[in-house]
Amino acid sequence: MTYETITVEHRDAVTLITLNRPKALNALNSQVLEDLVSAFAAYEADAGQRCAVLTGSGDKAFAAGADIKEMADKPAADFYNEDFFSRWTSHLVKTTRKPWIAAVNGFALGGGCELAMMADFIIASENAKFGQPEVKLGVAPGMGGSQRLTRAVGKAKAMEMCLTGRMMGAEEAERSGLVARVVPHDTLLDEALKTATAIAAMPPMATVANKEMVNAAFETTLDQGLVMERRIFQILTATEDKAEGMAAFIEKREGQWKGR
Ligand code: CAA
Repeated sequence: MTYETITVEHRDAVTLITLNRPKALNALNSQVLEDLVSAFAAYEADAGQRCAVLTGSGDKAFAAGADIKEMADKPAADFYNEDFFSRWTSHLVKTTRKPWIAAVNGFALGGGCELAMMADFIIASENAKFGQPEVKLGVAPGMGGSQRLTRAVGKAKAMEMCLTGRMMGAEEAERSGLVARVVPHDTLLDEALKTATAIAAMPPMATVANKEMVNAAFETTLDQGLVMERRIFQILTATEDKAEGMAAFIEKREGQWKGR
Protein backbone atom coordinates (compact mmCIF):
# COMPACT_ATOMS: atom_id res chain seq x y z
CA MET A 1 0.00 0.00 0.00
CA THR A 2 1.33 3.46 -0.85
CA TYR A 3 0.25 6.66 0.85
CA GLU A 4 0.32 10.33 -0.13
CA THR A 5 1.63 11.87 3.09
CA ILE A 6 3.36 9.06 5.00
CA THR A 7 5.67 6.15 4.29
CA VAL A 8 5.30 2.72 5.87
CA GLU A 9 8.03 0.10 6.09
CA HIS A 10 8.19 -3.26 7.79
CA ARG A 11 11.40 -4.05 9.66
CA ASP A 12 10.73 -7.67 10.60
CA ALA A 13 7.94 -7.44 13.22
CA VAL A 14 8.21 -3.63 13.55
CA THR A 15 6.15 -1.20 11.45
CA LEU A 16 7.93 2.11 10.82
CA ILE A 17 5.55 4.93 9.89
CA THR A 18 7.09 8.24 8.80
CA LEU A 19 5.18 11.50 8.40
CA ASN A 20 6.34 12.73 5.02
CA ARG A 21 5.55 16.39 4.39
CA PRO A 22 9.00 17.80 5.26
CA LYS A 23 8.45 21.08 3.39
CA ALA A 24 5.47 21.83 5.64
CA LEU A 25 7.35 20.50 8.70
CA ASN A 26 5.04 17.45 8.58
CA ALA A 27 1.97 19.55 9.39
CA LEU A 28 -1.08 17.37 9.97
CA ASN A 29 -3.74 17.93 7.31
CA SER A 30 -6.82 15.81 6.52
CA GLN A 31 -4.86 13.58 4.17
CA VAL A 32 -2.31 12.80 6.90
CA LEU A 33 -5.20 11.73 9.14
CA GLU A 34 -6.67 9.49 6.42
CA ASP A 35 -3.26 7.95 5.74
CA LEU A 36 -2.47 7.38 9.43
CA VAL A 37 -5.90 5.89 10.12
CA SER A 38 -5.38 3.43 7.32
CA ALA A 39 -1.74 2.63 8.27
CA PHE A 40 -2.61 2.08 11.93
CA ALA A 41 -5.57 -0.15 10.95
CA ALA A 42 -3.25 -2.23 8.75
CA TYR A 43 -0.69 -2.46 11.58
CA GLU A 44 -3.38 -3.53 14.07
CA ALA A 45 -4.76 -6.18 11.69
CA ASP A 46 -1.39 -7.75 10.81
CA ALA A 47 -0.57 -10.44 13.39
CA GLY A 48 3.04 -10.51 12.19
CA GLN A 49 3.56 -6.86 13.22
CA ARG A 50 4.09 -6.49 16.96
CA CYS A 51 5.22 -2.91 17.57
CA ALA A 52 5.17 0.34 15.57
CA VAL A 53 7.31 3.47 15.51
CA LEU A 54 6.00 6.82 14.29
CA THR A 55 8.51 9.51 13.35
CA GLY A 56 8.84 12.60 11.15
CA SER A 57 10.81 12.92 7.92
CA GLY A 58 13.55 15.52 7.62
CA ASP A 59 15.84 16.75 10.34
CA LYS A 60 13.69 19.51 11.70
CA ALA A 61 10.25 18.33 12.74
CA PHE A 62 8.22 15.43 14.02
CA ALA A 63 5.13 17.54 13.21
CA ALA A 64 4.70 21.31 13.58
CA GLY A 65 1.00 20.97 14.32
CA ALA A 66 -2.33 20.77 12.58
CA ASP A 67 -2.09 22.34 9.12
CA ILE A 68 -2.71 26.04 9.69
CA LYS A 69 -3.14 26.69 5.96
CA GLU A 70 -5.92 24.10 5.82
CA MET A 71 -7.61 25.49 8.94
CA ALA A 72 -7.31 29.21 8.15
CA ASP A 73 -10.50 29.58 6.09
CA LYS A 74 -12.46 26.65 7.44
CA PRO A 75 -15.81 27.63 9.00
CA ALA A 76 -16.53 26.67 12.61
CA ALA A 77 -19.52 24.61 11.47
CA ASP A 78 -17.18 22.37 9.43
CA PHE A 79 -14.89 21.79 12.42
CA TYR A 80 -17.94 20.83 14.48
CA ASN A 81 -19.71 18.74 11.86
CA GLU A 82 -16.60 16.83 10.77
CA ASP A 83 -15.41 16.42 14.38
CA PHE A 84 -12.01 16.03 12.70
CA PHE A 85 -9.90 16.04 15.85
CA SER A 86 -11.84 13.24 17.55
CA ARG A 87 -10.81 10.77 14.86
CA TRP A 88 -7.15 11.01 15.86
CA THR A 89 -7.86 9.67 19.34
CA SER A 90 -10.48 7.15 18.24
CA HIS A 91 -8.24 5.53 15.62
CA LEU A 92 -4.72 5.97 16.98
CA VAL A 93 -5.44 5.49 20.67
CA LYS A 94 -8.71 3.67 21.24
CA THR A 95 -8.69 1.10 18.44
CA THR A 96 -4.93 0.52 18.38
CA ARG A 97 -4.42 -2.09 21.07
CA LYS A 98 -0.91 -3.01 20.00
CA PRO A 99 2.01 -0.86 21.19
CA TRP A 100 3.52 2.07 19.32
CA ILE A 101 6.28 4.53 20.08
CA ALA A 102 6.65 8.15 18.94
CA ALA A 103 10.25 8.91 17.92
CA VAL A 104 10.30 12.71 18.11
CA ASN A 105 13.07 14.09 15.92
CA GLY A 106 12.47 17.87 16.18
CA PHE A 107 9.49 20.20 16.61
CA ALA A 108 6.41 18.53 18.10
CA LEU A 109 4.06 21.49 18.33
CA GLY A 110 0.30 21.78 18.72
CA GLY A 111 -1.23 18.74 17.05
CA GLY A 112 2.31 17.36 16.65
CA CYS A 113 2.85 17.34 20.41
CA GLU A 114 -0.65 15.93 20.83
CA LEU A 115 0.04 13.18 18.28
CA ALA A 116 3.28 12.24 20.07
CA MET A 117 1.39 12.09 23.37
CA MET A 118 -1.09 9.61 21.85
CA ALA A 119 1.78 7.11 21.59
CA ASP A 120 2.40 4.61 24.37
CA PHE A 121 5.62 6.49 25.06
CA ILE A 122 7.94 8.99 23.46
CA ILE A 123 11.63 8.63 22.71
CA ALA A 124 13.05 12.05 21.87
CA SER A 125 16.11 13.27 20.03
CA GLU A 126 18.11 15.84 21.98
CA ASN A 127 16.85 18.36 19.34
CA ALA A 128 13.17 17.71 20.14
CA LYS A 129 11.01 20.66 21.13
CA PHE A 130 7.50 20.25 22.51
CA GLY A 131 4.85 22.94 22.74
CA GLN A 132 1.18 23.88 22.59
CA PRO A 133 1.38 27.29 20.84
CA GLU A 134 -2.28 27.35 19.70
CA VAL A 135 -3.04 30.34 21.93
CA LYS A 136 -0.92 32.48 19.57
CA LEU A 137 -3.31 31.55 16.74
CA GLY A 138 -6.36 32.58 18.73
CA VAL A 139 -7.35 28.99 19.50
CA ALA A 140 -6.38 26.26 21.96
CA PRO A 141 -5.27 22.62 21.81
CA GLY A 142 -7.85 20.47 20.00
CA MET A 143 -6.34 16.97 19.93
CA GLY A 144 -5.80 16.36 23.63
CA GLY A 145 -2.99 18.77 24.55
CA SER A 146 -4.71 20.42 27.50
CA GLN A 147 -5.53 16.99 28.96
CA ARG A 148 -2.62 14.69 28.07
CA LEU A 149 0.09 17.32 28.62
CA THR A 150 -1.37 18.17 32.03
CA ARG A 151 -1.46 14.51 33.02
CA ALA A 152 2.13 14.05 31.80
CA VAL A 153 3.89 17.12 33.24
CA GLY A 154 1.44 18.48 35.83
CA LYS A 155 -0.62 21.64 35.96
CA ALA A 156 2.15 24.22 36.45
CA LYS A 157 4.15 23.42 33.33
CA ALA A 158 1.12 22.52 31.17
CA MET A 159 -0.63 25.76 32.09
CA GLU A 160 2.50 27.83 31.47
CA MET A 161 3.05 26.18 28.08
CA CYS A 162 -0.58 26.57 26.98
CA LEU A 163 -0.81 30.19 28.13
CA THR A 164 2.53 31.37 26.72
CA GLY A 165 3.21 28.92 23.87
CA ARG A 166 6.66 28.30 25.38
CA MET A 167 8.47 25.28 23.96
CA MET A 168 9.98 22.64 26.19
CA GLY A 169 13.32 21.13 25.17
CA ALA A 170 14.12 17.43 25.29
CA GLU A 171 16.01 17.47 28.58
CA GLU A 172 13.21 19.31 30.39
CA ALA A 173 10.66 17.00 28.76
CA GLU A 174 12.45 13.95 30.15
CA ARG A 175 12.82 15.54 33.59
CA SER A 176 9.11 16.40 33.57
CA GLY A 177 7.90 12.93 32.61
CA LEU A 178 6.76 13.78 29.08
CA VAL A 179 9.27 11.51 27.38
CA ALA A 180 10.67 8.14 28.36
CA ARG A 181 14.20 8.75 27.09
CA VAL A 182 16.35 11.31 25.26
CA VAL A 183 18.97 10.05 22.82
CA PRO A 184 21.55 11.71 20.53
CA HIS A 185 19.83 13.04 17.39
CA ASP A 186 21.69 10.75 14.96
CA THR A 187 20.79 7.61 16.90
CA LEU A 188 17.06 8.36 17.40
CA LEU A 189 15.65 6.02 14.78
CA ASP A 190 18.06 3.19 15.67
CA GLU A 191 17.21 3.51 19.36
CA ALA A 192 13.45 3.65 18.71
CA LEU A 193 13.62 0.64 16.37
CA LYS A 194 15.78 -1.28 18.87
CA THR A 195 13.23 -0.61 21.63
CA ALA A 196 10.35 -1.55 19.32
CA THR A 197 12.15 -4.77 18.33
CA ALA A 198 12.53 -5.68 22.01
CA ILE A 199 8.81 -5.07 22.60
CA ALA A 200 7.94 -7.03 19.44
CA ALA A 201 9.80 -10.04 20.88
CA MET A 202 7.63 -10.13 24.04
CA PRO A 203 4.60 -12.43 24.41
CA PRO A 204 1.96 -10.60 22.32
CA MET A 205 -1.04 -11.09 24.60
CA ALA A 206 0.90 -10.01 27.69
CA THR A 207 2.13 -6.95 25.78
CA VAL A 208 -1.37 -5.79 24.91
CA ALA A 209 -2.53 -6.53 28.46
CA ASN A 210 0.29 -4.47 29.98
CA LYS A 211 -0.62 -1.54 27.71
CA GLU A 212 -4.28 -1.83 28.64
CA MET A 213 -3.48 -1.84 32.37
CA VAL A 214 -1.21 1.21 32.33
CA ASN A 215 -3.73 3.17 30.26
CA ALA A 216 -6.49 2.23 32.71
CA ALA A 217 -4.59 4.17 35.39
CA PHE A 218 -5.72 7.37 33.65
CA GLU A 219 -9.38 6.38 33.45
CA THR A 220 -10.23 4.67 36.75
CA THR A 221 -10.05 5.12 40.49
CA LEU A 222 -7.11 3.34 42.18
CA ASP A 223 -9.43 0.62 43.51
CA GLN A 224 -11.05 -0.03 40.11
CA GLY A 225 -7.62 -0.05 38.43
CA LEU A 226 -6.22 -2.52 40.97
CA VAL A 227 -9.19 -4.87 40.48
CA MET A 228 -8.79 -4.67 36.71
CA GLU A 229 -5.06 -5.34 37.02
CA ARG A 230 -5.63 -8.45 39.18
CA ARG A 231 -8.29 -9.82 36.82
CA ILE A 232 -6.09 -9.39 33.76
CA PHE A 233 -3.15 -10.93 35.63
CA GLN A 234 -5.37 -13.89 36.53
CA ILE A 235 -6.50 -14.30 32.91
CA LEU A 236 -2.88 -14.24 31.71
CA THR A 237 -2.01 -17.11 34.07
CA ALA A 238 -4.27 -19.31 31.94
CA THR A 239 -2.37 -18.63 28.70
CA GLU A 240 0.01 -20.97 26.90
CA ASP A 241 2.53 -18.12 26.82
CA LYS A 242 2.54 -17.98 30.64
CA ALA A 243 3.32 -21.71 30.84
CA GLU A 244 6.01 -21.29 28.18
CA GLY A 245 7.47 -18.12 29.73
CA MET A 246 7.87 -19.64 33.16
CA ALA A 247 9.19 -22.95 31.78
CA ALA A 248 11.68 -21.05 29.57
CA PHE A 249 12.93 -19.10 32.62
CA ILE A 250 13.43 -22.27 34.66
CA GLU A 251 15.10 -24.09 31.73
CA LYS A 252 17.32 -21.03 31.02
CA ARG A 253 16.22 -20.62 27.36
CA GLU A 254 14.31 -18.09 25.25
CA GLY A 255 10.51 -18.43 25.23
CA GLN A 256 8.65 -19.27 22.02
CA TRP A 257 5.39 -17.30 21.97
CA LYS A 258 2.02 -18.31 20.58
CA GLY A 259 0.03 -15.20 21.50
CA ARG A 260 -2.56 -17.29 23.32
N1 CAA B 1 0.74 24.25 9.32
C1 CAA B 1 1.01 24.51 8.03
N2 CAA B 1 2.25 24.81 7.59
C2 CAA B 1 3.25 24.86 8.49
C3 CAA B 1 3.03 24.62 9.85
C4 CAA B 1 1.69 24.28 10.27
N3 CAA B 1 1.38 23.98 11.54
N4 CAA B 1 4.20 24.76 10.52
C5 CAA B 1 5.11 25.09 9.60
N5 CAA B 1 4.55 25.15 8.36
C6 CAA B 1 5.19 25.50 7.08
C7 CAA B 1 5.50 26.97 6.99
O1 CAA B 1 4.35 27.70 6.58
C8 CAA B 1 6.60 26.98 5.96
O2 CAA B 1 6.02 26.82 4.69
P1 CAA B 1 6.49 27.80 3.45
O3 CAA B 1 7.94 27.41 3.22
O4 CAA B 1 5.58 27.38 2.34
O5 CAA B 1 6.34 29.19 3.93
C9 CAA B 1 7.37 25.70 6.27
O6 CAA B 1 6.47 24.88 7.02
C10 CAA B 1 8.61 25.93 7.12
O7 CAA B 1 8.21 26.63 8.29
P2 CAA B 1 8.93 27.98 8.80
O8 CAA B 1 9.48 28.74 7.65
O9 CAA B 1 7.97 28.69 9.70
O10 CAA B 1 10.14 27.35 9.62
P3 CAA B 1 10.90 28.01 10.86
O11 CAA B 1 12.10 27.16 11.09
O12 CAA B 1 11.14 29.45 10.64
O13 CAA B 1 9.92 27.86 12.11
C11 CAA B 1 8.33 26.71 13.52
C12 CAA B 1 9.57 26.59 12.60
C13 CAA B 1 8.73 27.44 14.80
C14 CAA B 1 7.94 25.27 13.86
C15 CAA B 1 7.21 27.47 12.78
O14 CAA B 1 7.03 26.87 11.50
C16 CAA B 1 5.90 27.45 13.50
O15 CAA B 1 5.72 28.17 14.46
N6 CAA B 1 4.94 26.64 13.00
C17 CAA B 1 3.56 26.62 13.52
C18 CAA B 1 3.50 25.94 14.87
C19 CAA B 1 2.08 25.98 15.40
O16 CAA B 1 1.53 27.03 15.65
N7 CAA B 1 1.47 24.78 15.59
C20 CAA B 1 0.13 24.68 16.08
C21 CAA B 1 -0.86 24.55 14.95
S1 CAA B 1 -2.55 24.61 15.51
C22 CAA B 1 -2.88 23.05 16.06
O17 CAA B 1 -2.06 22.16 16.03
C23 CAA B 1 -4.29 22.84 16.58
C24 CAA B 1 -4.46 21.61 17.37
O18 CAA B 1 -4.25 21.55 18.56
C25 CAA B 1 -5.00 20.41 16.77
